[in-house]
Amino acid sequence: MTDAREQLRLVLLGPPGAGKGTQAKMLVEQQGLLHISTGDMLREQVQAGSDLGVQAKQFMDGGKLVPDELIIAMVELRLGRPDVARGWILDGFPRTLPQAEALDQTLARLGAGLSHVAFFGVPQENLVARLTGRRTCGGCGAIWHLTFKPTRTEGVCDTCGGELKQRADDRREAVEKRQEVYTAQTAPLLDYYQGHGILAEIDADQPPQGVFTALVAALK
Ligand code: AP5
Repeated sequence: MTDAREQLRLVLLGPPGAGKGTQAKMLVEQQGLLHISTGDMLREQVQAGSDLGVQAKQFMDGGKLVPDELIIAMVELRLGRPDVARGWILDGFPRTLPQAEALDQTLARLGAGLSHVAFFGVPQENLVARLTGRRTCGGCGAIWHLTFKPTRTEGVCDTCGGELKQRADDRREAVEKRQEVYTAQTAPLLDYYQGHGILAEIDADQPPQGVFTALVAALK
């Protein structure tokens, strides 16, 4: 059995559009980690029409956070599954102080605390174009961009041939709300994790491969 201290248990922090999902997918490909994205989990629930999905949709479409108690319960359940033993990347959680404290308590119970928190810094003025141009494959979940990462054929995923979609919360009004919410509720987590001594700041205002190189170096 691998020693729990050697495993990567990484939180990705950063504003909407900073590239958390893009980098998580690159790390998964290279290191075979588990990618736990609360945004993806919620979108699956919305698509399935579950009670959680119906409750979450009204918050998500308006660019607001889903209430802490719903998210914390969903993540606790996920971290209780056996496949987490190989190490994981948490993308999109925590996003508030109560979520960060709940995560610490859950991990203390499991006897496997966070190994790293990586913060992706990108100037706010560059994020709107990233989000409004993002397209996501409905088949395999690959993340594309109309300008920064275009597919060979517009609207069709290069990886699986699936249809590309625009997320409901990538409309400009929702993007602006998400940025406001990030500044008010999520940015304070930088101080929280700085205090824990596990925060690595990554320059994410460069092409994805450069961000990935900086991220991998920070995780060593
Ligand atoms: P979520 O899905 O987590 O959205 P987010 O945090 O706003 O992050 P994004 O997925 O928008 O951006 P990203 O940083 O992953 O960027 P990406 O790699 O895609 O959450 C959605 C909603 O769910 C929330 O608003 C909330 O309602 C709810 N929710 C989720 N978690 C919650 C929680 N914990 N508590 C409460 N509510 C919660 O990249 C963006 C685009 O840029 C792509 O097109 C990509 O190709 C391009 N790109 C990526 N990197 C680069 C680069 N280096 N250079 C140029 N372009 C790039």
